[in-house]
Amino acid sequence: MDLIDSFGRTVRDLRISVTDRCNFRCTYCMPAEGMVWLDRSEVLTFEEIERVARICVEKFDVNSLRLTGGEPTVRAHLPRLITKLAALRLSNGEKPDIALTTNGATLRNIALELRDAGLDRINVSLDSLKAERFFAMTRRDELVNVLAGIAEAQLVGFTPMKVNVVVERGANDDEILDLVAYGRDNNIEIRFIEFMPLDATNEWERKKVVTQDEIISVINAEYPLEIVPARGAAPADRWRYVDGKGTVGVIPSVSHPFCADCDRVRLTSDGQFRTCLFATDEFDIRALLRNGGTDDEIAELIRTAVGLKWAGHQINQVNFIRPRRSMSQIGG
Ligand code: GTP
Ligand code: 5AD
Ligand code: SF4
Repeated sequence: MDLIDSFGRTVRDLRISVTDRCNFRCTYCMPAEGMVWLDRSEVLTFEEIERVARICVEKFDVNSLRLTGGEPTVRAHLPRLITKLAALRLSNGEKPDIALTTNGATLRNIALELRDAGLDRINVSLDSLKAERFFAMTRRDELVNVLAGIAEAQLVGFTPMKVNVVVERGANDDEILDLVAYGRDNNIEIRFIEFMPLDATNEWERKKVVTQDEIISVINAEYPLEIVPARGAAPADRWRYVDGKGTVGVIPSVSHPFCADCDRVRLTSDGQFRTCLFATDEFDIRALLRNGGTDDEIAELIRTAVGLKWAGHQINQVNFIRPRRSMSQIGG
């Protein structure tokens, strides 16, 4: 049975955060230090995650599972979870699409293992091609490793490869064309993300958001673009380069919210179910998992949560309330 919310949107995508920990400290996401991690006992086991995913896939035909963090690859034995998820089947017998969003720092060593475990797709975050600036934005000196990780992932068969760039005015907005050139030369779809008010240190300001219109006009002036129609439920609007050298995207959460087509729900690493990145309510699946809840009870909680999903975020309204948790704790 499909999971449909009260605005008629069908849920097809479960984003699963496997850890709140990260080996980077990106300025738009985490403080430099002092982040308090969840205790290990609070974090769902692979068996618990698999159970929730199974219910979503088997009962509700959720056909897309995406692993996020913190940084998902810092969770020990991640390929074991992927193997479990890759064995799930939709009601039509098909395997769900299994994807990973990572900062890429460890990919050089584990890309092949992830592929062999059954992972279908990888999106890597990369905000600068300049070592010093990369360090300033992530607080880690890992640019070389990330670039090598992206290349290795492509080599073992993860194509098309997508790279996410959070654009922050005054930080990296002068690098849009350099990143576009890197994408065009390396068969990568670059997706520029509007900076969202989900940073841990509350430094988001509207004037730091470089809008989709600004980004596209910068690219279009150098490399003429044409829109790719039919965006579906995906967060990214996409354009193709008129000269045929691939595609580029923008995730315009602030200037052009895409909530009306949203098909996503989220499971945090501590087992809380969220129906929106910006939701202020969470539903405690972990309590059911750990207190003898049946699959039907878990499915019912999911159905209740989805029934209460709101029409969309309120970033652009005066009554916007930031979620209690920041990006790395929710899972991106
Ligand atoms: P694809 O299936 O490859 O298109 O993946 P994706 O774009 O859904 O996933 P990814 O993890 O790469 O997300 C890219 C950016 O989109 C991240 O910054 C996410 O936080 C943001 N994003 C993903 N889902 C949502 C959403 O539902 N709402 C908003 N506002 N942003 C989202
Ligand atoms: N605004 C926009 N995107 C963000 N990400 C993390 N924090 C923010 C933010 N405040 C992005 C990361 C990664 C994805 C999971 O979320 O760069 O691509
Ligand atoms: Fe969906 Fe919330 Fe994202 Fe809007 S902000 S697209 S409702 S998850």
